[in-house]
Amino acid sequence: MTVKDDPMGREKVAIKLPAVLRQRIKVRAAQLGMDMQDAVTEAIQAWMADGAEHPLVETSGAANFTTHLPEGMNEEFRKVAKSRKAALNQALAQALTEWLRDRPASHRQREATGPVRLIVCNQKGGVGKTAISAGLAESIAERDARVLLIDFDPQCHLTSQLGFKPLGIDDPSLAKRMLGEEKRVDLRSLVVPVESELFGGRLHLLKGSPYAFLLDAKLATAPGLRVRETALERELMALEEEYDYVIVDCPPSLGYTMDNALYYGRTRDGEDADSSGVLIVVQAEDSSADAYELLMTQISAITGDMDLRLALLGIVVNLYDSRRGYIATSSLQGWRDLGTPPVLGVIPDLKEQREAVRVKQPLLEYAPESEQASCMRELARRLVG
Ligand SMILES: Nc1ncnc2c1ncn2[C@@H]1O[C@H](COP(=O)(O)OP(=O)(O)OP(=O)(O)O)[C@@H](O)[C@H]1O
Ligand SMILES: [Mg+2]
Repeated sequence: MTVKDDPMGREKVAIKLPAVLRQRIKVRAAQLGMDMQDAVTEAIQAWMADGAEHPLVETSGAANFTTHLPEGMNEEFRKVAKSRKAALNQALAQALTEWLRDRPASHRQREATGPVRLIVCNQKGGVGKTAISAGLAESIAERDARVLLIDFDPQCHLTSQLGFKPLGIDDPSLAKRMLGEEKRVDLRSLVVPVESELFGGRLHLLKGSPYAFLLDAKLATAPGLRVRETALERELMALEEEYDYVIVDCPPSLGYTMDNALYYGRTRDGEDADSSGVLIVVQAEDSSADAYELLMTQISAITGDMDLRLALLGIVVNLYDSRRGYIATSSLQGWRDLGTPPVLGVIPDLKEQREAVRVKQPLLEYAPESEQASCMRELARRLVG
């Protein structure tokens, strides 16, 4: 269907398109600073100009998609599609898939230093570390990067919220490997893919184990551990080759477990100073400010003792609700006034996050168009470009 309704000489066109493809175009166009209709126009132009064989694209689950094309283009597109014996929705799906293929999201090169390591932390409980770890990982994976999420919290919320059963206390686990108690099992066997067309097999999770409750105490006394703070890095190195980003969802505690995560997130030799590092999730309330001070003390201690460079990449103010009045607004201002680390995101208290947790689905899969999902994508954009 075509309606000439646009003063800029564009025609409104409705074609069927799979929702996932539509979403990916929307995200990539936004990343490239383009209007979606311009991205679609480019894609169709390139498809028409390319007379080579175009591989078939899966179009099941297609829904109505409306865009505006330059005048006359829709007619020409239909003619070319007909001459190539392609249904119009198949032709559009091919054009957009090829457009995406030719414009990979820019991710920094990992060859020299390995993946970017992002440590999501705060010893204060319930501020949203797990929600932000997952949303960030989903947003980065949606943009064609390979992401490994580490459930480093013995509560295993990340594992269960993404729909998996946490490891049993007697099962092999990251924590056991860190303590040298489990040598035979390859950590890869504890990694599961987070399935969704959005992530295209690029988002993986290293499942959590309640055994990690013993990490702090055991790391303090484990015989044979030369350096207690490096056990996490030692174990994760074996997995890193397959990923562009590793994101660690930390437990709400300070101690050897956290020291391991902070050490893991340090700036390595040859790495950009603002690449790997720490992301601190807070709320706009006074107790969060106290918790932040404690975390900073811990960070100063470990960076001083071990002579580390650790980038404080930013603060995310989560569960923000300005209706809570002066405490909320002045606390938010307080976080902004810090200046360094910068406030990278202010994420409202919205229902979609809780609903996604209830149905055990990734937020971006459950509510891809929600404000909450947009906040996560914006955070990813500000954090990793
Ligand atoms: N922006 C948000 N809007 C609505 N609900 C949220 C938001 N962020 C987190 N939540 C919900 O708040 C609860 C606590 O969040 P989450 O588990 O991510 O916190 P946490 O810091 O990881 O907690 P813990 O310290 O126990 O690990 C969860 O039910 C989560 O779904
Ligand atoms: Mg958590």
